Amino acid sequence: MGRMRWIDTLEAAAAEKLPEAVYRYFRQGSAGGVSVGEATAAWSAYRFRPRVLNDVSTIDLSTTVLGVPVDSPILVAPSTLHRMADPDGEIAMARGVGAARSALGVSSNAGTTFAELGATGVPWWLQIYVVRNREITRRMLDAAVEGGARAVVLTVDTPVVGRKEDDGDTVWGLVKPGQLLANLPDGDWTDDDLAKADDLNPDVIGWLAERTGLPVVVKGVLRGDDAKRCADAGAAGIIVSNHGGRQLDGSIPTAQALPEVAEAVAGTGLEVYVDGGIRRGEHILTALALGARAVFVGRPALWALTVGSSAGVARLLTDLSAELDHSMRLIGHSTPSSLTPDLVTTPHLN
Ligand code: FNR
Repeated sequence: MGRMRWIDTLEAAAAEKLPEAVYRYFRQGSAGGVSVGEATAAWSAYRFRPRVLNDVSTIDLSTTVLGVPVDSPILVAPSTLHRMADPDGEIAMARGVGAARSALGVSSNAGTTFAELGATGVPWWLQIYVVRNREITRRMLDAAVEGGARAVVLTVDTPVVGRKEDDGDTVWGLVKPGQLLANLPDGDWTDDDLAKADDLNPDVIGWLAERTGLPVVVKGVLRGDDAKRCADAGAAGIIVSNHGGRQLDGSIPTAQALPEVAEAVAGTGLEVYVDGGIRRGEHILTALALGARAVFVGRPALWALTVGSSAGVARLLTDLSAELDHSMRLIGHSTPSSLTPDLVTTPHLN
């Protein structure tokens, strides 16, 4: 047996520790599992065209994400049920992120209050689902602003929740009070109040910006024309995402969507991010070259939280950064902002 990369050991180690339904929930994709299954391979399908004889003695991975300084362009995606991975849930996740001087997205379904998150001092962005009863959304936004959220991430790929065919959803039977929806405002809400709004249009971007005074990032865009609509409506950022293959199954891999989106909004000042299947430094290098300012990781952060709590999350981020640093030297570039699309190609797809 050869030496196994630590990141590659995480999922199996997490599966040992987690209740089976939780593991399956974290891991699941929607419907036939096409998108979740091909995400990582789509990144690995790119090939590099490295430059040589460039001075790469000093690599500087630091950047800003909507004004927030980070040590490396690797952030943690919003996800749920952190308290099932670690008793301290989102707080442990935030501490790990903070130790790596990164930033995180926090799900509007989080099991930790925004005030508690704010008290960690770690930069965080609120991920929001706009629900049918806008009073709920308004109060949640206000609480997030109060808790120091630095941006609002509007998830737009979920007018309805993706259909799951495995038994990951049995997890909902295990959820204890306080592990989920810690930020749902008090009230006698009906299922209809809480259902996701399926009548949104780009005006919601301006509404969110006005309500919060924060930059708005639209998550779940896979097309250049949609990215342009978001830019025109005042978005500050886009996350190219297919929700980790949990929404419309068969949606194109983000590795394929990113170049079109980056090109569509080039010159607008809008920041482009990407997530989905990113597991290695080389995948991050590819994403940055294709126009992403930073990437998000989803499931690997959940595995790392399960296995090693905040120290595990910090190690995941620093290990990925070390891989990125190494591959930057090999491609002949010392800063993320100097990477350009000509550094990657897909010969076997042309
Ligand atoms: C998610 N994701 C997600 N996205 C979002 O906008 N709001 C949410 O509440 C959640 N919840 C959630 C739960 C779990 C268990 C997972 C795995 C994912 C999607 C997430 O933000 C991100 O888009 C993907 O996870 C990225 O893909 P990878 O890195 O997991 O392959």
